Amino acid sequence: MTVNLDISSMFAEYFSFTAEVVVHAPGRVNLIGDHTDYNDGFVLPAAINFGTDIAARNRNDDLVRVVAVDCDNEIECFELSNIQFSDTSMWSNYVRGTILSLLNVYPDLHGVDLMVKGNVPQGAGLSSSASFEIAIVKALAELNQLPINGIQAALIAQSAERDFVGCNCGIMDQLVSACGIQGHAMLLDCDSLAYEHAPIPDGLSLVIVNTNVKRTLVDSEYNLRREQCEAVASHFKVKALRDVTLEQLQSEHSVLPAVLYRRARHVISENTRTINAHSALANKDMKTMSRLMQESHHSLRDDFEVSTPELNFLVEIINKVLGNKGGVRMTGGGFGGCVVALTPTELVLSTVRAVEEHYQKEYGLEPSIYQCSAKNGAFA
Ligand code: GLA
Repeated sequence: MTVNLDISSMFAEYFSFTAEVVVHAPGRVNLIGDHTDYNDGFVLPAAINFGTDIAARNRNDDLVRVVAVDCDNEIECFELSNIQFSDTSMWSNYVRGTILSLLNVYPDLHGVDLMVKGNVPQGAGLSSSASFEIAIVKALAELNQLPINGIQAALIAQSAERDFVGCNCGIMDQLVSACGIQGHAMLLDCDSLAYEHAPIPDGLSLVIVNTNVKRTLVDSEYNLRREQCEAVASHFKVKALRDVTLEQLQSEHSVLPAVLYRRARHVISENTRTINAHSALANKDMKTMSRLMQESHHSLRDDFEVSTPELNFLVEIINKVLGNKGGVRMTGGGFGGCVVALTPTELVLSTVRAVEEHYQKEYGLEPSIYQCSAKNGAFA
């Protein structure tokens, strides 16, 4: 609430008139199910208490002005009739792309003044960009009373990211930022976009530890993984790996190149783990959850090869603290970023201490530790 009040007074001070709407969209953490969304599979993310705030007011012309508080109040202006990719202001491309996607569905929008402020750590794999896009959709939907639901908002935001910004992502990040529910994780079927929520049991905290390693090769390696998955899907003549079983895959072991075989084995087994993790969470079965998170991490590390030594190290030391009372794994796209630990409240302090004691000593980098909770999405 404080953050919202803050941004509306900053808006008033900057523009000398008041905002009509103030909105918020959260980032996300994925509990299990990584690199499955673009294979039409299953994911189990939660929206978190870090996000993007936007204050906005409609204009009478077709100009968009957007001020980024986090970039020293840098301002970008463009016309709705001429939205171009900016080579000089990357952050503004999220606004340009999202508004262009909205215009494809609602061509009568008019110009708008926007002020943006966010606290999702950037480049950490916690979906700062999805939270930005969903906040823009929400602001324009409220300003113009557009009949947009959470799924439509997610599709509009995803198309901005894919077709305008140029990152060929799945639907997970945008959908949970729009439709997550406080205190719950969301099992999402990325093919039908049906979802159901599972309460995160009382007494468990979401501890997220950022390796603070600068992520490299993210886009090229992400796209390569997608191509490898698509190659196996087309080998089996199906739309996506979602439709291949482990038995079918095993029967082609001698035919498929070893790397493709391992990539597909990750995706297919991760789908099963994710569905099982949803039941484990619903049944408060931490022992099973712990095992599934560990298997997921190993599969991402060995078969999908998107983990890093720093992520593996954090998982190892946190696992020692949690045993089977909690679970820990790398989260998101990988190549740096964060681990997520479902941690019993009484073990939070020892988890933090273990990370503080060992990580910096090993890698010379200070980790960031966020104690998070699951929040409502912008369209919940
Ligand atoms: C990134 C993408 C998501 C998803 C994850 C990996 O966060 O934006 O769509 O593919 O990586 O699970």
